[in-house]
Amino acid sequence: MTDAALLQLNAVSKRFGQVVVADGLSFSVDAGATLGIVGPNGAGKTSLFGMISGDLPVDSGDIEFDGRSVVGIGTAERCRLGITRTFQVPRPFDGLTVFENVLVAAQQGGGLRRAAAVDAALAALAETGLADRANMMAGQLGLLARKRLEVARGLSTQPRLLLLDEVAGGLTDPEVAELVAIVRRINGAGIAVVWIEHVVRALLSTVDRLICLALGKLIADGNPREVLGRPEVKELFLGTESAIAGDRPERVSEPVSEPAIDPAGGNP
Ligand SMILES: Nc1ncnc2c1ncn2[C@@H]1O[C@H](COP(=O)(O)OP(=O)(O)O)[C@@H](O)[C@H]1O
Ligand SMILES: [Mg+2]
Repeated sequence: MTDAALLQLNAVSKRFGQVVVADGLSFSVDAGATLGIVGPNGAGKTSLFGMISGDLPVDSGDIEFDGRSVVGIGTAERCRLGITRTFQVPRPFDGLTVFENVLVAAQQGGGLRRAAAVDAALAALAETGLADRANMMAGQLGLLARKRLEVARGLSTQPRLLLLDEVAGGLTDPEVAELVAIVRRINGAGIAVVWIEHVVRALLSTVDRLICLALGKLIADGNPREVLGRPEVKELFLGTESAIAGDRPERVSEPVSEPAIDPAGGNP
C-alpha cells in the first residue's frame, strides 16, 4: 500500500454459493479522500461494505486499515479503529429518541464512555441537522430524517472512514442537495467517505473518484465523469433513465437538476 492509503483491499473475493459478490477486488482509499461506488443491483456493493466493516467474512484476500490487516477482526473493533458503515435500509430503534439512537451508536459502536458519547452524539446531531428533533421518537421520522439519523449514528462513532450505502435513495432533489451538503461537511472535517449511490448527481457533487462494480468485479476506476462516460459502464445502465454525466458534463455542477441513473433506486 502507499503511505497515504487508509483502506487497502487486496484481491478480496467472496461468493454466496454460485453468486459471486467480490471477484479479486483490489483498490485503496486515501485518508480524507472521497470515493463513489456505482453498479447495478446485485453487483456486490453492499456486500463489499459488509466485508470492510466486518459484518461479512471474506472468502479470500486481505483488507488493511491504517496499515494493518483487519480480516478476522470483528465489527465492533473495526468500528473503534475508525471504520463505520450506514445501512441501505435505515434501522434505528424506533422506540428510542433520535438522541438516544445516536448515543447508543457512540457508546456501543464508537466505544465512547458516557460523557464523551453525549458530546459526540450532540455534535453528530448538529452536523446532520437533527438537533431540533433530538427528543422525537425515531419511529416518527420521515425518510430524509431517517437517512440523516443513519449518518448521525455513523458519525457519532468518530470514524476515519465512513461508508454510506445509498443514503440518497428515495429523496427529493432538495433533500438530496441537503444530504450532499452534510456529506461534504463530514469529508471537509477530514473523514474519508466511500459512498455507494444510484443517485449519480449526489456522487458527482461529492466524490473525486468513482469505481464501478459489476458481478463482483471492479470494471472502472477513475475520475467520476470519465468513468460514467465509459461504454462498458454506460452499458450497465442501459434501459434505465440514464443521467450518466459524460453525456451532460455541463450540468455536473448542478447537483439537484439531474434524474438518478436508476429512478427506482436500489433500495428494496
Ligand atoms: N447473505 C447473503 N446470502 C446469500 N446471498 C446474498 C447475501 N447477501 C447478498 N447476497 C446476494 O449477493 C448479490 C450481491 O448483493 P449485494 O451485495 O446486496 O449487491 P448490491 O448492493 O450491489 O445490490 C445479490 O445477488 C444478493 O442476492
Ligand atoms: Mg446494495
